[in-house]
Amino acid sequence: MKEAGDKRICIGILGFGNIGVGTYQLLEMNHSHIKETSGLDFEVVRILEKDVDRPRPVQVAPGLYTQDADSLLTTPDIDIVVELLGGIQPATDFMLKAMAAGKHVVTANKAAVAAHFPELRQAAIANRVLFRYEASVGGGIPILNALTTALTANRFIEVKGILNGTTNYILTRMAEAGLSYEESLAEAQAKGFAEADPTADVEGIDVANKLSILISLMFGERVAPEDIPTVGITGITPKAILDAAADNSRIKLIAHAKKTAAGIEYNINPMALPLSHPLASVSHEFNAIFVTGDGVGDLMFYGKGAGPLPTGSAVMGDIIEIGKAMAKNSAYDPVVPGGPLK
Ligand code: HSE
Repeated sequence: MKEAGDKRICIGILGFGNIGVGTYQLLEMNHSHIKETSGLDFEVVRILEKDVDRPRPVQVAPGLYTQDADSLLTTPDIDIVVELLGGIQPATDFMLKAMAAGKHVVTANKAAVAAHFPELRQAAIANRVLFRYEASVGGGIPILNALTTALTANRFIEVKGILNGTTNYILTRMAEAGLSYEESLAEAQAKGFAEADPTADVEGIDVANKLSILISLMFGERVAPEDIPTVGITGITPKAILDAAADNSRIKLIAHAKKTAAGIEYNINPMALPLSHPLASVSHEFNAIFVTGDGVGDLMFYGKGAGPLPTGSAVMGDIIEIGKAMAKNSAYDPVVPGGPLK
């Protein structure tokens, strides 16, 4: 494990799509602020990306691009590998390889984290590196940090919320502007909210990945995303949306998990919520997550759940936390956030 002797932290980014660009842009925008407040100089030194000619809102020196994954995963000049490829593979193998080479890993990839959570966490422990994935749930909302730091005194009872920006954006635009499903989805894609294959968004798979991660951290139990009963929004007709509006309700895609005496109950369903319900007014790409703990009671987290800069904010937060741990020579923390999985 490399430590931050010279206070310069070198970052390699795997994948330069919307979130890669948002992360790069935020670091560029706030570089001096981050340096001043953390005492660390974070620099992106390599980017794994094939499509180097795609127009992007950031200027990147052409020499930063590579198509050789090993030049990020195993070379000594990279401290933190930031996995933003999406999809389960090769992203998971890349993360495991980076950890085996002693690199800290940050990811926004909920599909890979949900599919290989125990293995990735175990690899981080075995290789004495840090593994952080705040951006994988709730975009810019620091929900995982809250659950695994400030709230650890609680036994969690329930989580309920809107966990996908794309579907919430589609439902909002269909209701407020009378757009068609296709027009609303095209807008969500243009704004960088949707997955590369938006089927994962609209069929609720993305929400199942996120709920699986929340269940692991909150209840210490692993539930595979495919085992969560899930209904997406593809069956929601414009008429259903108008009928809900006429009934002073809004349709929202709601993820729910609850600890009961019989075990954990979980499901994902579109629901018509009365306008008086706090989740009914969560619009566009915003997400909201209600958490109930036995000490703290009810909490609600709200913020942008998708988009390059909000998600880049969560990725950069993880990068900076790792940089600080490196600077203190305390990168290895044997306490696994959320405790051991059953
Ligand atoms: N496609 C995801 C969403 C991105 O719309 O919520 C953020 O995880």
